[in-house]
Amino acid sequence: MMNLPTPWVMAPMADVTHACFRDLVAQWGGCGLYYTEILNARIVASSRPEKDPYCDAGLLDRPRACQIVGDDPAVVAKAFEKLQALGRFDAYDFNLGCCCGMPARYGWGAALLRRPHRVREILREARRVLEGPLLVKMRIPDGPEDTAKRWAELLHECGVDAVVLHARYSGDLFKRPARWGVLKRWKRILTMPLIGNGDVFSPQDAVRMMEETGCDGVMIGRAALMRPWIFSDLYRFRSAGTLPTPPDVAPMVGQYGLLLRQWMPQQEAVRRFRRFAFWICQNYSYGAHYYHRSCRAGNLEAMVETLQGFLSRDVLSDYPVRPFMM
Ligand SMILES: Cc1cc2nc3c(=O)[nH]c(=O)nc-3n(C[C@H](O)[C@H](O)[C@H](O)COP(=O)(O)O)c2cc1C
Repeated sequence: MMNLPTPWVMAPMADVTHACFRDLVAQWGGCGLYYTEILNARIVASSRPEKDPYCDAGLLDRPRACQIVGDDPAVVAKAFEKLQALGRFDAYDFNLGCCCGMPARYGWGAALLRRPHRVREILREARRVLEGPLLVKMRIPDGPEDTAKRWAELLHECGVDAVVLHARYSGDLFKRPARWGVLKRWKRILTMPLIGNGDVFSPQDAVRMMEETGCDGVMIGRAALMRPWIFSDLYRFRSAGTLPTPPDVAPMVGQYGLLLRQWMPQQEAVRRFRRFAFWICQNYSYGAHYYHRSCRAGNLEAMVETLQGFLSRDVLSDYPVRPFMM
């Protein structure tokens, strides 16, 4: 496994973790690995990823991993090969965790956990073409007592360099708390590094996950959407035991508006700003009101200005963050 500058990893998140969001996060430092959004193997394999905005590289977001979803070994390998040829990525991840939307409809992502033989074929092909580190991001597979052991063997045989475990079963969706106890069990069984994931809502949570489960790194999803600077908080918390004063949120909102304008066509920039506002607003008691008012403002500039107006008059809540989607 590559040496990460810090053990904190930003999760892949569809519709958000484009290069411009990763660059926003990277300006504060502290993040040890940045993920792209989920990339469809069929599309990457059959098109020119150098022109695909989903494969963009930011200016500051290193080291950087790309994530592929699919179920055909040859297509997945072709997709990884093309991404490798771009020279933009430091690590390559295969998705075995997504259980909604397009991947679920095709039986990809977490649905493949029911087809270990197919996963073996895919990972072997991926390993054959990839020179860089190969990761899998997975949910907990359903099955009898020895399921974890069998998966650990499979992943080892296939030459997987690290595992990200989102500590929920597919059937849990986001409805029940992440099962950190399973992370502890998997850490004892796996032969490669384990990155724990699920319900880290503060720097304290991240440190506690490492201490309680023994995992080698921690991946953060929703909390990084609500606090894009959380990785620098984590860095400070772990080294000095204190938390820095949070940055002013209103200027950050303006900065993200500019980044979107720079990177995206107008319509996509508006759509992405809405997603961003949805998460940022969850830091505030009256956030739902701010969100709806900002979405109704019309164009991107008006949305940014409306949201900035609300946020500059309000106070950010303390950690832990409380995302609506649990
Ligand atoms: C908006 C959103 C989009 C997501 N998109 C992806 C994705 O593209 N690929 C993936 O493997 N997981 C995806 N996830 C799952 C996250 O990577 C992560 O595993 C999950 O949110 C649990 O981490 P958390 O409790 O820190 O949020 C997504 C989650 C959210 C909230």
